[in-house]
Amino acid sequence: MKLLVTGGAGFIGSNFIHYWLKHYPEDSIVNLDKLTYAGHLSSLKDVSENSRYKFVKGDICSQKLTDSLMVDVDTVVHFAAESHVDRSILHPSEFVRSNVLGTQVLLESALKNKVKRFHLISTDEVFGSLPLNSRTKFSESTPYDPKSPYSASKSAADHLVRAYFHTFGLPITITNCSNNFGPYQNPEKFIPRMITNLILNQKIPIYGDGKNVRDWLYVEDHCWAIDLIVHNGRPGQTYCIGGQKKEFSNFEIAQKIIKLMGMDKSMLEFVADRPSHDRRYAVNWSKVHRELGWSPAKNFDDRLKSTVEWYSNNKWWWMPLKKQAESIYRK
Ligand code: NAD
Ligand code: DAU
Repeated sequence: MKLLVTGGAGFIGSNFIHYWLKHYPEDSIVNLDKLTYAGHLSSLKDVSENSRYKFVKGDICSQKLTDSLMVDVDTVVHFAAESHVDRSILHPSEFVRSNVLGTQVLLESALKNKVKRFHLISTDEVFGSLPLNSRTKFSESTPYDPKSPYSASKSAADHLVRAYFHTFGLPITITNCSNNFGPYQNPEKFIPRMITNLILNQKIPIYGDGKNVRDWLYVEDHCWAIDLIVHNGRPGQTYCIGGQKKEFSNFEIAQKIIKLMGMDKSMLEFVADRPSHDRRYAVNWSKVHRELGWSPAKNFDDRLKSTVEWYSNNKWWWMPLKKQAESIYRK
């Protein structure tokens, strides 16, 4: 099988490329990435010489480029997006361009080239926010209710992808997943920001009252879910992917990281809240479990421990990114 992966130099995309090359020795991958502030070829150092892997620097909004790259491609796995909620509050227009227009451009090329599967990586944020202290979870039938420019742009992409299935018969699938964590995540996102600040002996900033809840999904578990869906998911279907059985607030997660790193609570600092900060995300992933047998392979605490170890052992990767990551928060 030949895959076109978009956004493969980003966090989840680079983990996916490692995963796929390891599990499918017959397959080849073309990685199309614009290398924005979030794309790093250093995340793909290990595979850069692999004959089954090719990198193309370019923009998913360029129809000519995407048309040419999709010739002979069987499967498109579309990760490329502006992905950071805080940045979407500062600069919404780039989110509309890449996340909405870029997705539509890719859909056109997929249609022209008759690709066998177009898979969109989307987010649980399209469903909005859940109340704290409730048992409600997002599922495939939850109505869309995005609250940030980021989640609004991702919602538009989901609708376009479904429209190409209904209108043109393009064989699509979508995953709406929760917060990923693991190796190669930009240190501007929550878990790597906490770990790398502590390594540098800096305080860790918690937004608002710290009671917000996210549903943490280890990136390798996510890659396995995409694998199952790309191979055996039903065309036209959406699958929700989440990671946790027990919920933890941001404050509790920060405390766990502090403990794992042998530090104390004086490193915690409460700071101003994010505007329109979604309170709680929780995902019901029973559909992908029932239809395809997926569930997270290990528990959250084990995954958090190995993530702390990865950042401790791979300073070469995140140190060059840390200064720029922190500069966004001064704006
Ligand atoms: P990321 O920000 O780490 O990486 C995004 C990648 O896309 C970067 O390499 C960037 O250079 C590339 N890119 C951006 N605009 C582009 C364009 N116009 N043309 C070509 N390349 C472009 O993102 P991530 O965290 O790996 O997320 C990947 C996907 O998963 C995104 O679609 C995101 O919305 C979705 N998602 C992420 C999470 C999460 O927790 N990280 C959770 C749910 C869904
Ligand atoms: O739910 C899926 C989404 O998860 C993805 O669609 C997004 O692409 C991804 O960035 C992520 O969005 P969040 O806004 O939830 O992730 P972030 O890492 O920015 O923040 C996680 C939580 O931690 C959130 O409640 C805000 C809080 N936070 C974040 C940072 C960076 C802090 O308290 N302090 C911080 O310094």
